[in-house]
Amino acid sequence: MKHNQSKTLARNLRADATTVLFQILEQGKSARECLPAMQLLHKDQDKAWLQEMVYGVLRQLPLLQYWLRHLLETPLKNKFKITEHLILLGFYQLAFSRVSQHAAVSETVNACHSLRVEAMRGLVNGILRNFIRNETSSNKPDDEQINSGLPKWLYKKLAQAYPENFLGLLAQIESKAPIWLRVNRKQIAAADFQQKLQEHAIDFSLSSHHPDAIILTKSMDITQLPGFEQGWFAVQDGAAQLAAAYLAPQENQKVLDCCAAPGGKTGHLLEVADNLDLTALEIDHQRANKIEENLHRLGHQANLLIGDASQPQTWWDNQQFDRILLDAPCSATGIIRRHPDIKWLRKATDIQSLVAIQQAILDALWPLLKINGSLLYATCSILPEENYQQIEHFLSRTPSAKLDPDFPHDKHHPGRQILPGEQQMDGFYYCRLIKSGENNA
Ligand SMILES: C[S@@+](CC[C@H](N)C(=O)[O-])C[C@H]1O[C@@H](n2cnc3c(N)ncnc32)[C@H](O)[C@@H]1O
Repeated sequence: MKHNQSKTLARNLRADATTVLFQILEQGKSARECLPAMQLLHKDQDKAWLQEMVYGVLRQLPLLQYWLRHLLETPLKNKFKITEHLILLGFYQLAFSRVSQHAAVSETVNACHSLRVEAMRGLVNGILRNFIRNETSSNKPDDEQINSGLPKWLYKKLAQAYPENFLGLLAQIESKAPIWLRVNRKQIAAADFQQKLQEHAIDFSLSSHHPDAIILTKSMDITQLPGFEQGWFAVQDGAAQLAAAYLAPQENQKVLDCCAAPGGKTGHLLEVADNLDLTALEIDHQRANKIEENLHRLGHQANLLIGDASQPQTWWDNQQFDRILLDAPCSATGIIRRHPDIKWLRKATDIQSLVAIQQAILDALWPLLKINGSLLYATCSILPEENYQQIEHFLSRTPSAKLDPDFPHDKHHPGRQILPGEQQMDGFYYCRLIKSGENNA
């Protein structure tokens, strides 16, 4: 134990934050893959600091890089490349954090040792001192894309899709998302859970649009909240909590939850209706384990299938479903405020292939739906091509598919596009389709 502790204390936080940034930005790993592993090596308060620094740099990356181009004439290469990420972290501390100037410079320079770029100490020191001396942090370019924190391709796409109140949208994408909980009504009544939180002096607010939701006022370690082990609640954004109400499964119905991992919506569906015959389908083995784990904690059960939604002949038993939830793989552009690494991991060229996958899954699943049954199409994207345009194309080639007139469609397009920040929710898209018996194709 003592041995472990001294190991923990010996780690250099800035070097570790830089390593995570390098893994995300140069090696294409997701923050989910590399940040928790690094956090494990640190004590609690440093875990939060690591995340704040990594996410902070990812949020402000274009501006930090703009400053770097001003202060570093020749880009660094090969084994020294990581030094650029260390300098960006230094800029972030100086311009956006409460770290003192002295600590920001000296500790960032010291990180060169742990990163094995000792030869770069002088360069890092010089650049950070120039940054302070020239008051570089007040040098903001006259370029909205750089100041928006978004990559060029995404900035252009969103400017085109949302010309009205575009600046408001950008501000929301750059803001931090609140933590939403969903009370597991099969385990505890919402009012009782609220009382438990009050007894533990945990501040929260409620949402008039979400009967099962609690919004925490401050972020905290969720596993320390009352009832975590007993499955009294799940962490789930408010937009994702709308899926259960929009699909509205009824007692004893046969339901397919497609693309289900980690099972957030699966759990909710099992909470809103009794005795569902629910099949959760997921393509990825490891992610499917997460569904099992999450359902187990909440005290729920479902039939879990590993399979490709676009190939039902490999897993379907020919019994049609009353309800299908298709939570399609997507660009995840609606949840950038929660996962800022998405901005840099997604590329413009990914969108076309995602649209093709969504289209293939929609077409493959439609025959699995009973006549008069409904399919809820969902994405956590804010790009029209993955959302209302995808649905318009589907409707035009599928005569038996109709828009459900009882669904709260947007004024000008099929489905409901939720933008980040709307009623504190993530960006999401939903559209409910019903299968008519007239043109059964
Ligand atoms: C948006 S996430 C689903 C989130 C989940 N519904 C929830 O609420 O927790 C999309 C999931 O679809 C899975 N997936 C991607 N392509 C798939 C396919 N062709 N068939 C089945 N699952 C797929 C991914 O592995 C991922 O777990």
